[in-house]
Amino acid sequence: MSDATPNQIELVAIDGPVGVGKSSVATGLAARLGWQHLDTGAMYRAVALLALQSRTDPTDEAACMGLARGMQFEFKTAEGGQRAIVNGEDASEAIRSHEVTEAVSSIADLVAVREELGRRQRAMGLASRSVAEGRDMGTVVFPEARWKIFLEAAPLERARRRGAQFEAEGSAMDNEALLASIAERDRRDRSRSVGALRVADDAIMLDTTGLTLDRVVGIMESIIRAGV
Ligand code: DC
Repeated sequence: MSDATPNQIELVAIDGPVGVGKSSVATGLAARLGWQHLDTGAMYRAVALLALQSRTDPTDEAACMGLARGMQFEFKTAEGGQRAIVNGEDASEAIRSHEVTEAVSSIADLVAVREELGRRQRAMGLASRSVAEGRDMGTVVFPEARWKIFLEAAPLERARRRGAQFEAEGSAMDNEALLASIAERDRRDRSRSVGALRVADDAIMLDTTGLTLDRVVGIMESIIRAGV
């Protein structure tokens, strides 16, 4: 690898819209590099779960910030994939539930929650070499990341990947509904007042339409090993 400039941090920031395959790519890349996978969406999901469990309104900024502040959150390495531990309990499945997915956009709109989670994400990313994945990694949380990659894919392909993911989880959704839900989540992700999904000026844009997961991870690994 060539040397980083002095203000850069050794971190891969991956951003992109829902259904583009960020999590699979980040998991694969982190495994190949032997780096930490920082799944920041899991942290927003964890706050949404706590809000649901405590019947807190997910638009109540002060209350949700209280939940975020008080939350213990850690990633635990395990066979078969990393686990999300929330307040001492393995919440890996619970944070992927339909209810959490429905509530989490409101949580992610809350500026105070974003600040709290962003601060924690930064501390985690600075503590060990990481592949950080989310919506605002390269723009807000890690603006000095050495590698910034923005993943894109055609909407139909994103709907297909998301559909396959739902099927693997045992639920089904027709194509029309998938496309509509993707469009709605895109709208929310891109129009957020703070932390909106956008391409950082210095990001590499990678269109993954028609590429296998292995190929995408391979391309990214080459970019990182080349040090550019
Ligand atoms: O990537 P995901 O579906 O697990 O993300 C869950 C939610 O959190 C989604 O509404 C987008 C939001 N999010 C965000 O606003 N910023 C991040 N860095 C990561 C996720």
